[in-house]
This record gives sequence, C-alpha cells and structure tokens, in this order.
Amino acid sequence: MKTIETVYWQVDPADAPQSAAVQEAARRLGRGEVIAFPTETVYGLGADARNTDAVARIFAAKGRPADNPLIVHIADPAALDALVGPYHDTARLLMRRFWPGPLTLVLPLRAGAVSPLVSAGLATVAVRMPAHPIALALIAASGCPIAAPSANRSGRPSPTLAAHVREDLHGAIDGIVDGGPTGVGLESTVVEVDERGGVQVLRPGGITLAELREIAPDAALDPSLVASVPADAAFAPRSPGMKYTHYAPKGELTVVESHSPEHAAEWIRSTLAAARSRGQRTGVLTFAERAPLFDADLVVSYGRLDDAGASARELYAALRAFDENGIDFILGEPCQNAGIGFAVNNRLRKAAGNRWLQV
Ligand code: TXA
Ligand code: MG
Repeated sequence: MKTIETVYWQVDPADAPQSAAVQEAARRLGRGEVIAFPTETVYGLGADARNTDAVARIFAAKGRPADNPLIVHIADPAALDALVGPYHDTARLLMRRFWPGPLTLVLPLRAGAVSPLVSAGLATVAVRMPAHPIALALIAASGCPIAAPSANRSGRPSPTLAAHVREDLHGAIDGIVDGGPTGVGLESTVVEVDERGGVQVLRPGGITLAELREIAPDAALDPSLVASVPADAAFAPRSPGMKYTHYAPKGELTVVESHSPEHAAEWIRSTLAAARSRGQRTGVLTFAERAPLFDADLVVSYGRLDDAGASARELYAALRAFDENGIDFILGEPCQNAGIGFAVNNRLRKAAGNRWLQV
C-alpha cells in the first residue's frame, strides 16, 4: 500500500473539549480522512460512517475482511435516530443505563443511513456511545457518525496505547490522537436486541452478563460463546481445526488450565524446558504472584489472580510483548472465569487459535 503522512497529536483527556488538536482531527474526519483515537475500551480507527471512500480506507489500512461489519460511534444518544429504525424499548433501557460506556447495541439499520460497507450488507447496525472525553469531543466536533473498529492491523491484538496504533498503522492512516492508555483494555460488549426485546451477547466485554440482566433478566450469551469458553472443570479441549486468528501473537500460544495451581506450574515448567531444548524461544503469560515460578526467555504477567480488571487492561500489551521479544513458544494461564474474566478468557482463547489444554 502507498505510504501516507500520519499526523500525531498528544491530547490530555481533561482538555479534550477545548483542544485545538481535537478540532483539527474532527475537521479531517469531516473531509473523509481516517483518524485513530482513544476510547475507554481500546483505540479506534475512525472515519465518517456515511462516506464510503473513507470507510473503504479503514478496511484497507487494517487489512480487514469486507464481511466483518464496523461499530458506529456517536457522542449523543439523540444521534441514534438517524442511524436505526424502530427498536424495542429494552434497547432504550440498556442505553440509559450503560451509555456512555462499553456497550454496543446491534439494532435495525435505517436504510441508507451509513455506507453499506459499515454494515457489511446486514439489515442491522452496531452502535455505541463511548465513555472517553476525547472520543466524545472528537465525534461531536466532527458532526459525523464515526465508524471505528479497533485500530490494529487485522488479526493483531487491539491497541491500548497510541504506540500500538503506530506500530500497526503508521504510514497507512491520516492521524493518531494520543490520549494515553485506554481504560477497560478489551473491546465493548456487543449485544443484539431483537424486535421482541430478546437480548443476546455476541461478544463479551466490559459490561458483564450479570449487569445486563439487571435491565434484561433474560439476556443470554450467544451459543458460540458458551461452547468456546470453559465454564467448568468438565470442559474438554476442542478440535484444533477450529482456527481463530484474532489477537494472535506471532509465536504459538497455548492456554493451560488446571485444578491445581501447583500441577499447572509443574506442567508448564517441564513443557517449556522441552521447547527450549528444541531451540525455541519460550514465553509465559501469567499473574504477578506466579511470575517467579517460571523460567523462560520472557515471563509476562497480566494483573493479579484476584484482579481480572487488571488482566483485561494488560492482556493486549502483554501479547504484543511476546512479538517484540521474538518469542515463538508461549504458554498462558487463564483468568478466573467470572465477571470481566469471562471476556478476558474469550480473547485469550482467540489469541491462542483455540489451543486450550486441561492438564
Ligand atoms: O470497544 C470497541 O467496541 C472498539 C472501540 C474502538 O470502540 N471497537 C471495536 O470494533 O472493537 P471492531 O470492529 O474491532 O469490532 C466490531 C465487532 C465485530 O465483532 C463485528 O463483527 C461486530 O462488532 N458487529 C458489527 N456490526 C455488527 C452487526 N450488524 N451485527 C453483528 N455484529 C456486528
Ligand atoms: Mg477488532
């Protein structure tokens, strides 16, 4: 792809509404440019959702498959009506409770409201209002609904720092607004609300199923999520033929789960030793208090055992660290599978291309 000039702006989130940099980035969005910016989840790569040329540049810069639709970001719930057709009242209640915040709602698309590339030809559109002062100021100043997937090259871990965006997209996009580290660290919870008010979680994230059920008691996980994350000890490893390529480090990551923390540590140590003797550079992804148990070329911790929120914030940067250090064999320990830990494990499984062992 042709290299273009990427402009960088540093913005203090507290100054976002008055920031000249935000104003300039917003003008550029309005002219059809493609600009990365921070949200409370991960950095997004934004463009005017109504402008097909601009949206096409998002897909090109990311190397994203055309059949994967984008989330449209708004700065005010009132902007929703221009994007969607009639929807169930449950969606309204969810917005009232969780917007601004890491909840994306999949609702009926208002015909012609966004470029067909955004919805990938579906009859629905995904919309969210992010809880980040820079995102909100930028979207409001642009006057556009902003289509924004995570600002990573397709397949790589999502960016939680502007430096991650630069790593993946420098020279391929028009600008990057650096507002420091993002908050949640994982992408938003994506929820479909059907015409009867049925609520299904399509992608777990910062808003948990338990929180959704306070508003919609029958909210359920999409069946693919139930099958793909081990809910209990009886879980057996699934067919390695089911390949996921999301969030993947370049090295081969396998998740190792056990009832016994001691046994897991022992199994990991001996498996690492074997990999080393084959000449591989080894890595371990674990928790701060367990890091001293392992001897590998790179040991990265992501949070502590009892703090899945920290694991969520640190997971993607941890995965990138293995690449930076040229690690080719990685064993990872999963989070406690509760609260946001469920979403962390969902991303970990995808990063591992479904290699999840019970030892
Ligand atoms: O936190 C986030 O949601 C971040 C930040 C930047 O806002 N954005 C993000 O976008 O994660 P992306 O494109 O990486 O993920 C969008 C997800 C994909 O899983 C996509 O398939 C799903 O939302 N999606 C979008 N439109 C959809 C639709 N109409 N129906 C079902 N799923 C949809
Ligand atoms: Mg993404």
